[in-house]
Amino acid sequence: MDNEKMFEQMSMEGAPKIVTVPPGPASKEILQYQADNESSAVSYSKGMPMAIAKAKGATIEDVDGNIYIDMFAGAGVMALGHGHDEVLKAAHAQIDKVTHTLDIPSPTRVEMVKALRRILPKELSRVFFGGPTGSDAVEQAIKLAKYNTKRNGIIAFEGAYHGMTGVALALTTDSGHRDGIGELVPGVQFIPYPYTYRNPFGCPDEDLDLQCADYLERILEDSHSGTSLPAAVILESVQGEGGTIIPSPRFMQRVREITKKHGIIMICDEIQAGLGRTGKMFAFEHAGIVPDIITMSKALGGVGFPISAIAYREELNTWPAGKTIGTFRGNMIAFAAGAAALNWMKDNKIPERTLALGEKAMVRFKEIEAKYDIVGEARGLGLMIALEMVTDSKSKTPAEALAKKVRKYAHQRGVMIEVGGHHNNVARLLPPLVISEEYLMKGIDIIESVVKDLQDGKLD
Ligand SMILES: Cc1ncc(COP(=O)(O)O)c(C=O)c1O
Repeated sequence: MDNEKMFEQMSMEGAPKIVTVPPGPASKEILQYQADNESSAVSYSKGMPMAIAKAKGATIEDVDGNIYIDMFAGAGVMALGHGHDEVLKAAHAQIDKVTHTLDIPSPTRVEMVKALRRILPKELSRVFFGGPTGSDAVEQAIKLAKYNTKRNGIIAFEGAYHGMTGVALALTTDSGHRDGIGELVPGVQFIPYPYTYRNPFGCPDEDLDLQCADYLERILEDSHSGTSLPAAVILESVQGEGGTIIPSPRFMQRVREITKKHGIIMICDEIQAGLGRTGKMFAFEHAGIVPDIITMSKALGGVGFPISAIAYREELNTWPAGKTIGTFRGNMIAFAAGAAALNWMKDNKIPERTLALGEKAMVRFKEIEAKYDIVGEARGLGLMIALEMVTDSKSKTPAEALAKKVRKYAHQRGVMIEVGGHHNNVARLLPPLVISEEYLMKGIDIIESVVKDLQDGKLD
């Protein structure tokens, strides 16, 4: 079978198919049940109102029989698509053997570590499974950095999203998440990320990456900057929730040099950008660097089983046994599924295909940027793609309402996407990496049709 055929067969046929504008009657009933019984904090089902019946590959069917092209992949979790056959087979086989072992080893755990060893740079020789979520991995990475340096401060970046728990939330910038819940963990300082479209320094855009790195160096070297030597600098190798902001390789290289020079731990958060998403197994690889610690989650559990991990350099492996513990640090089903997924991804050269597919998608998105004044910038790396929506491309005024309408009407026309960004004005795409080229291009056509109708004032 030629490769593209294989990807086509992984999804449901005939998508998108809208039989009733979502939410249809069956979805409405379930959404109402959720609204009546679950927390008011529930969010995704407000942006894409429907109830899901089943999913396959890059397609999702709701309970009213609508079939969508999934260009969100459960916030990047479903990199290998929904219901990936080999991954499911591995999970099914594991469930009858053993499902929970704390950190007592098993052949399945060995398979997971071996699968990680196949894709990690050799310098990141140690792996730690610290809890089921991405936020857990961030907590552990910071704890490891603090323990090794015996320092407390952390430098993070404007626009960062690192999670919702104690330290992870303190490292997350969105005031919508931070405000109104009292004091956050102290010791965190944010500095500008090279967000060229909204250049924070006013320098020529092509110099912004080095300006941001120089700023980091300056506050570390100026004894009157008010910044004590921190334990760690943490950054997303491509900023995700902040609006899919792609740093240049030389920015990453300079941050690596500066952190090395000052004995600061460099942590790359690869929870969203990692595991093939940007066209490399890890996004930091685009810069040819190796950080000291990386965080992983989302796609790591194969088909959405909860698991996270950090990988780090040998010299940081100083924790005594039991220094950091937890009940759920090795879900056997997630390990079985994760090992199968990572091996499949590597064997089938998924990052390479993702890079090529992303380049084709960006040709289309750059056309869209050029054609419609309400699209300020289209940007992407691999299959991590964004359209920054503005009132007009001259003023660049952020248009949150427009980004939300792109999501709403794309959903109504059978395509699922998300919204993010510093001003919540960025339409974000994270399709499964196994999406067929046909569905990717169809999805883009539908997004363009929505942007066109918004630009022409045909949608309210
Ligand atoms: C870069 C990054 N770090 C951390 C997290 C937190 O992961 P989780 O939601 O599993 O706690 C996310 C989630 O979106 C993320 O994108």
